[in-house]
Amino acid sequence: MRAHAGHPDTLLLLGVIELQSGRAAQAAGSFGRSLHINPSQPIAQALLGDALMDLNRPEEALEGYDRGLRLSPDLVPAHFGRGNALLDLGRPLEALASYVTHLSMRGQVEYNVMKDLLSADRGADLMERVNGHLEAIARWWKEAEASIIRPDPNVLLPTGDKRTESVRNGFRLFRDQSAAGCIGCHKDYGRESTYFYDAWGTIGRPTDLTLGVYRGGRRPIDFFWRIHSGVNGSNMPLFSNVLSTKDIWDLVNFVQILPYPKMRQQFGVEID
Ligand code: HEC
Repeated sequence: MRAHAGHPDTLLLLGVIELQSGRAAQAAGSFGRSLHINPSQPIAQALLGDALMDLNRPEEALEGYDRGLRLSPDLVPAHFGRGNALLDLGRPLEALASYVTHLSMRGQVEYNVMKDLLSADRGADLMERVNGHLEAIARWWKEAEASIIRPDPNVLLPTGDKRTESVRNGFRLFRDQSAAGCIGCHKDYGRESTYFYDAWGTIGRPTDLTLGVYRGGRRPIDFFWRIHSGVNGSNMPLFSNVLSTKDIWDLVNFVQILPYPKMRQQFGVEID
């Protein structure tokens, strides 16, 4: 190390040793010096974040993790560190989103590698497989974050008679097997849905939409996104290719009132 004392890699390794032996301030200094010479080191940025967390400086730590992730979105542990920093900063919802991203990426990579290893193709070595999947999955997450679906703002949520019309059309679409055909899976509005395996081999079931309990949120936009883009891996298909934006909003308006008998009565929706 002495022979290459000023090299960014040497400083990085020195920082790791310092961090692991509980000398966070020295570690932060070493990572900082390494990054001063070469700022394009995603791992050093994330490790600087870890050292700053140990020093109780979550705001700067968060900046470190974010710089690391900008350089390399597949830096999975940085999502976890980011979650810890956000939690310390009193931003629990964003922290939760970061933890979920971390766990999902890990799970997706592990699952794909396992599938790979069980398949006939035994050519590539394990690290190659992990890195290949990790890169693809990180790119996929990044693209998804950059392409949030924003429905046409000219199609507004209707009120009064227009809302009744919309709910009724949603009701019709939900049941019409030649239109959306939601009822084919959400049998009896989900009260009689049958079990099946999802993409991960877990037992799943089309949601009982009369209960008013959802995994993806209950705001109109949450329903819009579920119906527009489906729920990957769960067998809930996307409908953006077969339904207009207006029809999707009509289904949203119907799904929204479905759990409530009084509202069903008010809108003339008979499900029993
Ligand atoms: C091929 C079967 C299938 C079809 C067709 C289908 N769904 Fe689903 N749907 C599912 C499954 C499975 C889930 C459960 C997803 C999960 O596990 O989170 C689901 C979940 C949902 C959810 C709840 C998501 C949440 O946040 O919990 C809504 C709302 C929904 N579907 C509406 C619809 C509507 C409206 C249609 C018709 C346009 C439709 N579904 C058609 C299978 C289907």
